[in-house]
Order: sequence, then structure tokens, then C-alpha cells
Amino acid sequence: MCQVEFRRQYLLFGCLLVPVSACRTDAKGSSFEHVTLIASSEVQGTTEPCGCTSDPLGDVARIASLANDHAILLDAGGLLYDPESRSPALKQQADAKAAALAAIYAMAEVGLGPADLAGGSARLSPLRHAANVQNIPTRAPKILQIGSAKLGIFGVVSPERVQSSGIKAVDPAPAAREAIEHLRRSGAHLVVALLGMSRAEARALLSAAPGIDFGIVGAEVGDGMPEAEPVGKGFLVAPADKGQRVVRIDLFFKNGNAAFMPFAGEATRRRALARTEARLTSLASQIAGWKRDPDADPQFLAARTAELASLENERQRLLRDKPKAPERSYFTYELVPVRSAIPREPKVAERLRDLDRTIGRMNFAAASAIAPPPPEPGAPTFVGRSACEKCHKRAVEFWQHTVHAAAWKTLTEREKQYNYECTGCHVTGWLRPGGSHLASVEKMGLTDVQCEVCHGPGSRHLEEAGLEQPTSMIRRPADSFCADNCHTKEHSDTFQLVPYLRDVVGRGHGEAFAKRLGSGITAKELRRGAIAASKK
Ligand code: HEC
Ligand code: HEC
Ligand code: HEC
Repeated sequence: MCQVEFRRQYLLFGCLLVPVSACRTDAKGSSFEHVTLIASSEVQGTTEPCGCTSDPLGDVARIASLANDHAILLDAGGLLYDPESRSPALKQQADAKAAALAAIYAMAEVGLGPADLAGGSARLSPLRHAANVQNIPTRAPKILQIGSAKLGIFGVVSPERVQSSGIKAVDPAPAAREAIEHLRRSGAHLVVALLGMSRAEARALLSAAPGIDFGIVGAEVGDGMPEAEPVGKGFLVAPADKGQRVVRIDLFFKNGNAAFMPFAGEATRRRALARTEARLTSLASQIAGWKRDPDADPQFLAARTAELASLENERQRLLRDKPKAPERSYFTYELVPVRSAIPREPKVAERLRDLDRTIGRMNFAAASAIAPPPPEPGAPTFVGRSACEKCHKRAVEFWQHTVHAAAWKTLTEREKQYNYECTGCHVTGWLRPGGSHLASVEKMGLTDVQCEVCHGPGSRHLEEAGLEQPTSMIRRPADSFCADNCHTKEHSDTFQLVPYLRDVVGRGHGEAFAKRLGSGITAKELRRGAIAASKK
């Protein structure tokens, strides 16, 4: 019964043959198949995270390496485009990214999402699992034979969600019932459904179309589902959007028994342990506080102390009792954060590097045909920091040792300096009157986060040798300036104004202000701490 099934590697350049199933024998001598499913949804054209934060999540090269390890890669819809993005400047690069993603997922089983047709139906490759769609070519429900296990896969989509992209879809429930019946008749032991709909819609579908073992939610997934939700005899699961967290299901198929039971497994034990330890720490510190309070109710305090003891027992139990795998067929479920600690699949990483080069060339060529933003009559323009050096030598020297002076380099190192999702926050005078655009930023000497980002455009100040009255320069930007413009939550998770300002001013630059800020934690320290924590 034990046979190793080979499957064509789904990845790029892809005819590599890899064993999908690790067929094994357990302690009692009965054989079983181990199959891993890795699923994403609503990747929305996100090939990689920006890399600005201390713990960036997502990256299809990392998803590919998770899937490379004998797994089957699935996507429940919304792979190619960000439905929110309407910017014409981004159109070219969005199309290039969609093409790369289609190639990376070429051998995967993929469902349909509303924005997938943004590049035209000709681009809809690989063909989508969408059994209730009528007016575009779709992939038929499919059986994957893995050793002795037969895995059935199909997909349906919510008609309302795809209507606006011109897709005609009928009621998903009857289409799902038909697909399930077809798959079961063809011998499927297990049925996985790629569901282009919200969790609530997916829950209703699982009830209306019994026989789905795993429904993978494909719309409005947000941060994903940490636990699988039982619905009837099946389970609903959801990854997080933008490739930030993927679904991992490990199936242990024993002795041809197709009734899978959930098994919490190691990952769940670790999660429960972390939860218990967090509650222990916070309760212990609360109790310490109450003990110092002379008015605290002794009965209440005794009850909380008893609770603390039972939490400690729970912790001991979780440390001691390693979960024991069931005798019959079972599965484990985990929502895996796609952290930077996960290695990148080298071929996909190389493909993404090529993509960045292509995007850069395309965007630069297109921008070269457009003039930089013209100055506003009477208003000063951006001149670049070399013009400040003559009179503010020490300020320039100080600035050169700040991270702002390396903002452009962080992009060139990644070949993302001509990427419309990146350039703006890493340069000076971006799309401001008399400032820079993609094709002029280097020529104008406006790369990096220079003086004029904070102090405003300097041409008038320069003409008047700094003696204009009143001054045309901004001495200090408003407190909300940094967080509103660049240090947003998505790009600067550790941002706090005062610690960050401590790194901006110092000897020879805003010295008096630096003294007023006083000593304390700095941006560098906050960031170093967060990066170290993310590696744990
Ligand atoms: C020709 C000399 C000269 C150049 C070049 C020059 N500055 Fe100044 N800057 C001055 C002088 C003089 C003052 C006024 C100093 C004072 O009041 O203490 C000043 C003041 C400032 C101030 C403080 C304004 C305030 O309200 O206190 C800022 C900020 C500033 N300059 C930024 C810049 C920047 C940025 C550049 C380059 C784009 C630049 N300066 C180029 C001479 C210059
Ligand atoms: C909204 C503004 C913004 C956009 C857009 C942006 N960045 Fe950033 N980036 C920042 C800020 C702010 C930081 C500094 C974060 C911190 O230290 O708290 C940063 C930091 C970084 C760093 C870390 C540098 C280091 O070595 O510590 C990298 C790498 C980076 N960005 C790359 C990118 C890339 C690639 C893109 C495009 C995909 C991008 N950024 C888009 C604002 C932005
Ligand atoms: C990230 C924002 C930021 C950048 C970039 C920046 N500065 Fe400043 N600068 C400040 C702040 C904050 C102060 C302190 C203002 C105060 O005293 O209230 C300051 C003060 C100054 C002053 C006033 C005189 C002094 O030293 O107190 C000058 C002149 C100045 N900066 C020049 C420059 C020059 C030249 C550059 C580029 C090499 C530069 N700054 C880059 C934020 C910035």
C-alpha cells in the first residue's frame, strides 16, 4: 500500500519531480500517508512585504519554500491584484507582479477572486477552480493521487463578489454538491474546497453542501483563523491576506481510513502554553498590586491567588504532556506567520529580483517621458542638501550619520528604488511642486530623507543667504508630521516621536532642542529590540 507518489514541482522552471507524500510506518507497523497542504488567500499582488517594519510578514518566496517541503500549494482566490488600487501609475507594475505571481503559482490549485480579472481574462493563468462560473474557462474538479490517498479539489465563488468584473456565476451550493459528488464517485477520500467568499458565506455553503472536509476561505480573511472552525463534519480555515500568514494542514491518512479527526498537535500545545504563561505573568503582577492595597477585599484576593495556582498547574501540565497522535486518520492545523526567519526559495527569490529590475526599467522609462513636478509661481523649490553645506556644515555632518542618509541605499540594495510603492518615503520633495519624481530624483540630488523633507524647500533661503525676513524655512515640523507622512503604522511599527527625535538632532544639529529632549531610549534602541524579539 505504501507507494511514493511523484508530482511535478509546481514552482517556476518547473519540471522537477518531487515526492509529495512521505509514506511511513508507525510504531504498530501500520502504514500511513502524510500530506501537507499550504494555502494562501487574498495575496492581492503582494509578492513581498516592504521591509520597513521590524518584523515584516509575507513573501511568496517564503511561502514557496514552505510549500516546497513536500506540500501541495493552494490559493483560495484574490491572488493577482489589489482590488483597492486604482492608481494608473501602479498599473504597469501591478501587471508585472501579477504575471510573476501567476508563474510562481503555475502548478498550484487556485480559486477565483474579484480582482483576478483586472489584467483581462487572457491573463487568468493558471485556470481557476470555480465550478459555478459559466462565462470564462475554469479548471474542472480535480483528484490528486498521493500515495494511496486521493485528494479531491474544487472551488466555487460568491456570485455577487465577481459580478462587477463581468464574471457570470450561479448559486454556489448546487454547483458544490455536484462537484463533491463527482469527486467522491471518482474515489476522493477527502474533499478540499477553495471558497471565493467570506467566512460567513463559506459557513453557509458547508452546511448547504455537505461532504467538504476542508473549506478554505478566500475573501475578507483579514488576519486569518488561528483555529479551524468545525462546520458539520468539515472544517473552515483561513489564511491572512497579503501572504502574511498561510494555512498549514498536515494530513495523516492511516490504513485507508478517510474519516479525519482534528488533533491539536504540537503547534496548539505551544500556543496554549504561551497563552497560559502570558495570563500567569499579568495575573501575578495584578495580585502584587492588590496586595499593596490596604482596601483590597481579602476574599477576592484569595480567589485570584487560587486562580494563579490553577494556571500554574495548567502550565506544568502543558509542559509535561506532549500530545499523543491518535490511532486513526487525523489532521493538524496551523496558521503559520510568514516571518523573515523562514528561508526564501532561491528560484522564486531570483524571479522576484528580476521582477524588481523589470518594474524599475519600465517605471523609469515611463517617468522619463514626464516632466518633474513644476514649481508653484513664487514658491520656493527643492535644492538638495549639498546647497546647505556651505553654511550648515555641522548639521550636514550630523545628518550624514543618521539613518535618513541611508534611506535611498536601503532601496537600491533591493533594486526597488524605482518602485512606486517605495520611492516616495525614501527621498526628498517627492511629487511636491519644484520637487522630484521617479526620473529626476537622482539628477536633482534629492535621494534620501534630506534636510528639506523636515525644513521645507530651500531655494529662497539660499538666494537670500539665509537672511530673508521672516525666514522661509520651517524650524521644526509639527509633531504629527513624521507619523502622518512617513512613519505610519504599516511602515514604522516602533515609532514614538521623542525617542525618534533623539536620533534626528544632536551635536551641531538642533543641539538646544536635543538638550530639551533629554536622555532616554532612542529610535535605534527601540528598533534593535523589536528586531531581536522578531527573531525569537
Ligand atoms: C548662505 C548660507 C546658508 C545656506 C546655504 C543655508 N542656510 Fe539655513 N540659515 C542660514 C542663516 C544665516 C540662518 C539664520 C541663522 C540664525 O538665525 O541663527 C539659517 C537658518 C536656517 C534654519 C533655521 C530657521 C529658523 O527659523 O530658526 C533652518 C531650518 C535652515 N537654515 C535650513 C537650511 C537648509 C535646509 C539649507 C539647505 C537647503 C540651508 N539652510 C542653507 C544660512 C544658510
Ligand atoms: C509610507 C512611507 C514608506 C513607504 C511607502 C515605504 N517605506 Fe520603507 N521605510 C519607511 C520608514 C518610515 C522606515 C523606517 C522605519 C523605522 O525605523 O521605524 C522605513 C524603513 C525601511 C527599511 C529598513 C531600513 C533598515 O535597514 O532598517 C527598508 C528595507 C525599507 N524601508 C524598504 C522599503 C521598500 C522596499 C518599500 C516599498 C515596497 C518601502 N520601504 C516603502 C517608510 C516607507
Ligand atoms: C527628520 C527631520 C530633520 C532633518 C532630516 C533635518 N533636520 Fe534640521 N532640525 C530638525 C529638528 C527637529 C530641529 C530642531 C528644531 C528646534 O530647535 O526646535 C532641527 C534644527 C535645525 C536647524 C536650526 C539650528 C540648530 O541647529 O538648532 C538647522 C539650521 C537645521 N536643522 C539644518 C538642517 C540641515 C542642513 C539638514 C540636512 C543636512 C537638516 N537640518 C536635516 C529636524 C530635521
